[in-house]
Amino acid sequence: MWVLDNLRFALGGPRRSHGARAVVTGAGSGIGRAFALELAARGGEVICADIDKDRADDTVRLIDRTHGRQAHAVFCDVSRREDVESLALHAELIFGRAPTLVINNAGVGIGGKPVGEIGFDDWQWALGINLWGVVHGCELFAPQLRAAGGGGIINVASAAGFTAAPTMGPYNVSKAGVLSLSETMAAELSGSGVAVTVLCPTFVRTNVARDGRITATSMRLAENLMRWTGFTPEHVARMTLDAHDRGRLYVLPQLDATVIWHLKRHFPALYTHGLGVLNRLLPQDDPAAHAPGTGPDLTEEKKTGV
Ligand SMILES: NC(=O)c1ccc[n+]([C@@H]2O[C@H](COP(=O)([O-])OP(=O)(O)OC[C@H]3O[C@@H](n4cnc5c(N)ncnc54)[C@H](O)[C@@H]3O)[C@@H](O)[C@H]2O)c1
Repeated sequence: MWVLDNLRFALGGPRRSHGARAVVTGAGSGIGRAFALELAARGGEVICADIDKDRADDTVRLIDRTHGRQAHAVFCDVSRREDVESLALHAELIFGRAPTLVINNAGVGIGGKPVGEIGFDDWQWALGINLWGVVHGCELFAPQLRAAGGGGIINVASAAGFTAAPTMGPYNVSKAGVLSLSETMAAELSGSGVAVTVLCPTFVRTNVARDGRITATSMRLAENLMRWTGFTPEHVARMTLDAHDRGRLYVLPQLDATVIWHLKRHFPALYTHGLGVLNRLLPQDDPAAHAPGTGPDLTEEKKTGV
């Protein structure tokens, strides 16, 4: 499969990331901004959608300044179906036809509390953006791409979609859903000319932890891991677009993600048992901080997307 993908690519198969008419959600920061800039560098026209319109505007300015290419900033809260419906309409109006590449990237970080102490508000917030946001994007853009007879969809999941790390319940569940949705669509769209890729990184140096709903201890751990082991968003965006051009379904940019992927597939019970032991050894948050909304870093100002 890998050999065939590379051969097809070498023989001049479709390079979907070049000259694309692209829609990128969450394009105001991190991986989404890096995707938007890289697509512009590859000669594309990009719609930069974000819940924070100022950040999306900044990305558009960066694209203009760096690559001299046209880009468009659009407000869109991906958790709201009507916003994504209007984004899909906007895309057809701006491009004059269907986009050729849709990147469902917008997402938020959440972590630090075990199931039972998370609270439904945080579950709904995280699943609304991380899972429903991607469902909205796929349900609304897939028909456009299918009718156009080609193109690509890249869904940004996470290694969390299979690592099942403790105290990250809503994040894990949302990303496992995105992974499964992408696999389902890859099979459904087989032979349609529309390629599906799902990105599953471990740590990437972005604002995801800082802007999320993450307890103090988990925040420290996440920020340290990001600093020590994180890839840059630019590197991840380039790798993912190259892999998409080669028709790859899965993109696991880092070695640790690949190792865990195989461990989990071959020894699932042992893996989960080991994770439980490790979790007992790691520093825990103050239990008082586990009551919903009482954590030290769960202030209203830290919550995005609400
Ligand atoms: N950074 C990492 O370590 C990492 C690892 C694995 C997966 N991811 C995933 O990568 C994706 C991008 O995250 P990032 O790391 O670049 O974070 P980021 O915080 O730097 O960027 C996320 C962007 O999404 C936007 N956004 C948030 N809620 C939104 C909503 N409801 N509608 C539209 N836009 C919204 C934010 O305004 C921001 O511009 C997310 O899906 C995240 O889960 C990140």
